[in-house]
Amino acid sequence: MICRPPIALLLFALLFPPAALTQTPPAYTPPAPAQIRAAEAPTSDPTWWKHAVIYEIYPRSFQDSNGDGIGDLNGITSRLDYLQSLGVDAIWLAPTYPSPQIDFGYDISDYTAVDPKYGSLADFDRMLAAANAHHIRILLDMVLNHTSDKHPWFIESASSRTNPRADWYIWNDGKPTTDPHALNAHLGPKGWVTPPNNWSSLFQGSAWEWVPARSQFYYHFFYRQQPDLNWRNPAVEKAMFDSMRFWLDRGVAGFRLDAITNLFEDPTLQDEPLTGRRDASGFPESNHTFTSGLPEVHDVLRRLRKLINSYPDNRVLVGEIYVPTTADLLQWYGTPAAPELQLPMDTLVGFHEEGGGVTNAPNVQLNLLHFRETISEMETALDNYQPLLVFDNHDNARSWDRFGDGGPHNPLIARLISTILYTTRSAALTYYGAEIGMTTHTPTRREGVRDPIGITGWPKEKGRDGERTPMQWAPLAPAAAFSTNPHTWLPIGADYPAINVATETADPRSLLNWNRTLIELRRTSPALHDGGFIILDTANPSVLSYVRTAPAGGHPIVVSLNFSAETQVVHLDLTAAKIPSIAAKLVITDTASPNSLYTLTTFNLSPYASLVAEVQ
Ligand code: BGC
Repeated sequence: MICRPPIALLLFALLFPPAALTQTPPAYTPPAPAQIRAAEAPTSDPTWWKHAVIYEIYPRSFQDSNGDGIGDLNGITSRLDYLQSLGVDAIWLAPTYPSPQIDFGYDISDYTAVDPKYGSLADFDRMLAAANAHHIRILLDMVLNHTSDKHPWFIESASSRTNPRADWYIWNDGKPTTDPHALNAHLGPKGWVTPPNNWSSLFQGSAWEWVPARSQFYYHFFYRQQPDLNWRNPAVEKAMFDSMRFWLDRGVAGFRLDAITNLFEDPTLQDEPLTGRRDASGFPESNHTFTSGLPEVHDVLRRLRKLINSYPDNRVLVGEIYVPTTADLLQWYGTPAAPELQLPMDTLVGFHEEGGGVTNAPNVQLNLLHFRETISEMETALDNYQPLLVFDNHDNARSWDRFGDGGPHNPLIARLISTILYTTRSAALTYYGAEIGMTTHTPTRREGVRDPIGITGWPKEKGRDGERTPMQWAPLAPAAAFSTNPHTWLPIGADYPAINVATETADPRSLLNWNRTLIELRRTSPALHDGGFIILDTANPSVLSYVRTAPAGGHPIVVSLNFSAETQVVHLDLTAAKIPSIAAKLVITDTASPNSLYTLTTFNLSPYASLVAEVQ
């Protein structure tokens, strides 16, 4: 259980009454218009996505409505009031399509239906309508790179070398070998063969799997139950685009494109350079040069953007992008004449180990220089395209644990990360539970692990269960109001009595109310909504400061964040930003303050403190 230290006075009034949360979620009834705050009114802004707060829901873990211990669509519908009160503009829904659930939905066996575990298509339509009534858009996760091996397309493709879908996946005869004991050797029609090259799967082992019925290997970047589609076959693109039309016609606002950089493989199948590391199963890792980021992906994205643009209401494409540099990230926007993604995720700021990927290393350093450099690049090196920042998702340990110092400063560091997310020029992508400071609950026994990479990789790789535990709604046994069933699919985090929505809603100083306040501010402050961005005090080794300049007549907003465990005296010079005033009114801070007026030329920031102030 995590003990939260006393947090000093917050100088703002909060208008959020405690929500009465019960174990059984109430049936959905639309909120009366009077209950909707002006800031949450519908927007017809064609660039809504530029200002959006996008909230990722991992459906298994958000809200269970039928007591089976697994979250579902009706559960999400019952929590829309909460999401609206938080200020969420759009939900990114991780996959709820029919799936054998090897990769918990990222292995899809039917792209135009709902898995009965999560509900029905009627439940989906009801959720979408209710979300629209709450002015919340729904973005679906679209997995284009691979299907499940139980998808009828793959079953047919794997059945022979001559069936109509024989060329829908990446098949290969393999490389002849004289050694029947070689790793992954199989007896083909012309003798023993091994996989065609050294490509490794991101999820451990070789990326090639043998199918006796074809006497061939197929390629899988992820689990062997996730065969990669052959995007060089136009029929594959047509089938996938048709699936997306199915959902666009139903009214979804767009897609988060899963593993989009991996759509194509080099047709020569040449070996990749090795990284020099072995994965948790002991297999040598190849560096994915010939399986990631190939130019052909951009052609598909340009066509996909045209498809999206042919629909009304400003649909949007968000991309899962892990690349090593900002220059690489820029490529995924396309060009003004040939646009691609509106919102490729900028994972450079929030997931900065070796270009990102699955990052379950705890206590990644809260490195100010890294933050200042990558945030500055996001502002200056993306050709004014819209950045999308993200610090939490279902593949990485929660930011609370990655950036926290594991001790009493964690709550302050969580505020600091949220402040960056909501006060830079970025659209904001957040993950369920981040708003309340949910922690990573890494399994302690192999028997308890559900994520296959954690089972095969134990104990080196413990998988991603830790960041997927059920949402903590209330301090109620047995399941924190996530479910009435004490046997939830993953255990409830033991810290739920303190870290939960109900308790934090009632506490004006909670992380939840910190986040609500910042999200509200980014809607109501012209500087945060539309203003420019200038980094201040650029040589300060401990404090990140920046100003959001205001459109004519508005008040600039200054943000100062202490990345150190010592109190810092900050001196800001706003003349570089052409702001003559040095007087500022405090909007939000987690440090004690004698009064609400600041002189920006000199002020103190206590350890890991965040300060947001409005220039007068
Ligand atoms: C998703 C993962 C998933 C993988 C394969 C990703 O990047 O975010 O959760 O395992 O794609 O679909």
